[in-house]
Amino acid sequence: MLDLSGWLDRASSPTLQQLTLRRPDDWHVHLRDGALLKAVAPATASQFGRAIVMPNLNPPITTPAAAQAYRQRILAALPAESRFQPLMTAYLTDASDGAAIARGFNEGVWAACKLYPANATTNSAAGVSSIEAITPVIAIMERIGMPLLIHGEVTDANIDIFDREAVFIENHLAPLLARHPGLKVVLEHITTIDAVEFVSGGPDNLAATITPHHLHINRNAMFAGGLRPDFYCLPVAKRELHRLALRAAATSGNPKFFLGTDSAPHQRSAKETACGCAGIFNAPYAIESYALVFEQEKALERLEGFASEFGARFYGLPLNSDKITLVREPQPVPKLLDFQGATGDGAGLVPFHAGETLPWRLLP
Ligand code: NCD
Ligand code: ZN
Repeated sequence: MLDLSGWLDRASSPTLQQLTLRRPDDWHVHLRDGALLKAVAPATASQFGRAIVMPNLNPPITTPAAAQAYRQRILAALPAESRFQPLMTAYLTDASDGAAIARGFNEGVWAACKLYPANATTNSAAGVSSIEAITPVIAIMERIGMPLLIHGEVTDANIDIFDREAVFIENHLAPLLARHPGLKVVLEHITTIDAVEFVSGGPDNLAATITPHHLHINRNAMFAGGLRPDFYCLPVAKRELHRLALRAAATSGNPKFFLGTDSAPHQRSAKETACGCAGIFNAPYAIESYALVFEQEKALERLEGFASEFGARFYGLPLNSDKITLVREPQPVPKLLDFQGATGDGAGLVPFHAGETLPWRLLP
């Protein structure tokens, strides 16, 4: 339960000043590698107890050995006292071997498999060209209870980019669930009312993650006064009606919807260029960003379920036992984070909410 000891005497002020909740987990994050990993991993580890780490490195993480080595690099990028646990994922390709995937899952190396339709997003060229073609792998995952995490967009150039999630659901996700009724599926970073309705109406083994940015911005943010690459991510933000549906779902208390930041850092030089990368870096202020949404929706008492309980239950993992505390204190977000030059000559990272002041601050 939420600790409401921070409520001031209602007579003097009705405003919650402090919020203590079970430590949250991030069920979808990109931690990158090398210098960028060292720069960004501490931000995620300072907020979250665990995170599902995306495998879309170059080359992608497809073997248990590569996952274990990557896990060690993540841990080495954190302060010695950190208790953060990276949960590793297998990147599915047309050549994935179901028996090898199952072995990695049973040995505790993988927490889940990630399905990128080939060329749907950053570093997905080696992704799956046809979901139907990997049916044998998926059948094994269904049998052993291994979650399938799906980037749910079709890649057909003839499909309008704003329709790619809805078309994926109809043409690929619904048939997949019909073929594998017992498969645990997380539809990742949902962006549409179509996804909200499909997941709400689906079985208990179907859930979805929601990012902070899709709760805060609609597609206009990318074009406000000019072209703004810092608001470009995939799946791309949609119309306002979709954002409102996502806010309703996230704050509803429905355990099928839980936290996944999709924090996806790209150097400023890779965002502000002729063909800029998709991805929003929200890790440093993620829980503050979600808290603001829940407060605006008058649902702060539901933040803990969304952030710290529903995801763990879906994955069949224990809840974190430690707590975090947010205090109501203006927190200016810098326009640029250069991590003391740790990101080399890539000119740093622009965080989500850059230049804004958030009303909450996470106590260290
Ligand atoms: C992600 C990335 O940069 O790795 N980009 C993004 O816009 N979210 C990939 C992804 O999750 O689609
Ligand atoms: Zn992602």
